[in-house]
Amino acid sequence: MKDALVYEGKAKKLFKTDVPDQLRVEYLDQATALNGARKDVIFGKGNLNNQITSIVFEQLHKKGLASHFIKQLSKNEQLIQALDIIPLEVVIRNVSAGSFAKRLAFGEGIQLERPILEFYYKEDALDDPMINDDHVQILKIANEQEIETIKKEAFRINQLLIELFKEIDIRLIDFKVEFGRRADGEILLADEITPDTCRLWDLATDEPLDKDVYRKNLGEIVPVYQEVLDRLEKKFN
Ligand code: C5P
Repeated sequence: MKDALVYEGKAKKLFKTDVPDQLRVEYLDQATALNGARKDVIFGKGNLNNQITSIVFEQLHKKGLASHFIKQLSKNEQLIQALDIIPLEVVIRNVSAGSFAKRLAFGEGIQLERPILEFYYKEDALDDPMINDDHVQILKIANEQEIETIKKEAFRINQLLIELFKEIDIRLIDFKVEFGRRADGEILLADEITPDTCRLWDLATDEPLDKDVYRKNLGEIVPVYQEVLDRLEKKFN
């Protein structure tokens, strides 16, 4: 019998498994931009992102950072722990780029004095607006203590990811993570960490090795994502 579909997102599908609190994730060959307004099928992207995020989560586990990731099942599938996803996109920025550079006329590629954190409310109908701690509490997305946990975790993830990507000659510009609650209330890192969710610049050339290649129509993304995977495999497998 086919597993029951639990959720279909822009880049992945989640299915039930025989174990109640475990889900199977299937990474799709799909790319979207502008909150889904632009959509393309990109053969091979699902495999690449699944393999990339599997290595990244494994490396984070080795450094003592837990997440929903259990194991990679195949090229485009992984097993995860089911969590109650908190509808927040948690963005950390080390270097100015993207919406930050545009909104504040800051200029691109400038190293920030310290990493900064932004919250976005994950709500397609509202176009994922940026919100602050007060909004997070008033909207009952998370309480004060949970917000503190999320922030602490996000900055810790940032430090670990900066080091991890540096080892493969990549500069971590910014990224987005999501968190979820386990049945016992524990907050865990969820979703994915891939070139779809991070800005990754080649250390030597500043060339983007991420979804900006798609967003800005700079070329094919499969070879770029493949390059990230090749470097990760060479270093960590
Ligand atoms: O577009 P913006 O500059 O706000 O993106 C910041 C970071 O968050 C980028 O690394 C981008 O890839 C990621 N992001 C994401 N999903 C979104 C919005 C941003 O993964 N819906």
